[in-house]
Amino acid sequence: MITTAKRERLICENLTRDTAGELCLAGVPLSSLAKEYGTPLYLYDEERIRERCKTYLSAVRAAFGENSQVLYASKAASFKRLYEIMKDEGMGIDVVSRGEIYTARLAGFPLCRAYFHSNNKTDEDITYAIDAGVGCFVVDNAEELYAINEMAGERKVKQKVLLRITPGIDPHTYAAVATGKVDSKFGSAIETGQAKEITELALSLPSIDLLGFHCHVGSQIFDADVYLSTGDIMLSFVADMQRELGFTARELDIGGGLGVRYVADQPTVDIEKTVLTVGESMRKRARELDIELPKIALEPGRSIVADAGLTLYTVGTVKRIPGYKSYVSVDGGMTDNPRYALYGSPYTILPVMGEIPPENEQMSVVGRCCESGDILQENVPLPKDIKRGDLLACLTTGAYHYSMASNYNKITRPPVVMLKDGQSYIAVRGETVEDLASHDV
Ligand code: LLP
Repeated sequence: MITTAKRERLICENLTRDTAGELCLAGVPLSSLAKEYGTPLYLYDEERIRERCKTYLSAVRAAFGENSQVLYASKAASFKRLYEIMKDEGMGIDVVSRGEIYTARLAGFPLCRAYFHSNNKTDEDITYAIDAGVGCFVVDNAEELYAINEMAGERKVKQKVLLRITPGIDPHTYAAVATGKVDSKFGSAIETGQAKEITELALSLPSIDLLGFHCHVGSQIFDADVYLSTGDIMLSFVADMQRELGFTARELDIGGGLGVRYVADQPTVDIEKTVLTVGESMRKRARELDIELPKIALEPGRSIVADAGLTLYTVGTVKRIPGYKSYVSVDGGMTDNPRYALYGSPYTILPVMGEIPPENEQMSVVGRCCESGDILQENVPLPKDIKRGDLLACLTTGAYHYSMASNYNKITRPPVVMLKDGQSYIAVRGETVEDLASHDV
């Protein structure tokens, strides 16, 4: 049994319980949404997303000046409505595939504000992005640089690029998302001399317009020091390239990665404070190095959308194995949320109709796939009388859930519903079984 103080924490301000004890997101009672749209159901609080964009934009501008930019890393969640919101809010975007570019375009997002990442862009990706008018490529390696040069040349375009640089930073997060270390599959390392080599190469190619550099050291980072070191190293590299190659970087993108709160034990990151601290440190470093601070971009994904979202499930089987453990199976699982299976990620899962009672039971909340690893969370305190038909909410599922969902076991992906001013609307309709078979010939 969990003590009262730890029993239930609504870890984000947009979550409340109404007088009847029902859990609400952005003021909307969750059972009404389950009734209207069914479960499993991805929900987003639109206002929260907009608020996050505004916080980032104003902090970045205060820290780095008016020409700085925030790019929403749309791999965190990519669907038309989100790109429309990003457009409205004046954000840039980070895209990593033709699918993301296509969807952003469909939303009318101005692709001149899109930065195209990926460590392995195919020829088709490159031509698609150039033809779509993607503003900037973030180039991972020399092969890609040659390919872009050739394809841009054929189109008589001079393509703007940033080079992805590996600063050699350990961001102290889970291995799957640590990308700043020298042995990373991403980018060219400063330590090995490859970062300088690729800069020289970019400067020598006629259809490449080198704007500057990019790095992204990892994800779910709580420690601001990681960004201070990253800023220091990247600015030193900028200064080295100025001195050694006579190249003045106009732009420096220091990536995303700020952490979010999945469980009460994790801290709430103060975005504004973190950005301002990094800004101060980078401005000081630029003065020490006697260089102009380039235009700075940040690339947050998770911290823009994660806590705007939650997933609603309906309980099915409740199984107790005396002396061992108890399972609560829900109507979703690793197909809509693979993050526990992949990273062992912690989650807060709460009953919708009423708080976790003092007399509760620790249960494993599992999905419905034919796979033992299909677990959403272990040791979740739940009411002892939990039963088929009850609703559960898994919090903080706005980032890397819809975008990482699969159709394993031919399970359909849930709809995405947005909440705004107490109303709800569908942003992505749920898949049907017909959708699933629609490509079979
Ligand atoms: N920029 C680049 C180049 C990235 O690779 C990423 C994330 C970001 C920005 C945004 O990072 P964020 O602010 O969202 O932490 N599937 C994993 C996360 C993978 C992150 C991949 N790159 C998860 O569910 O935890």
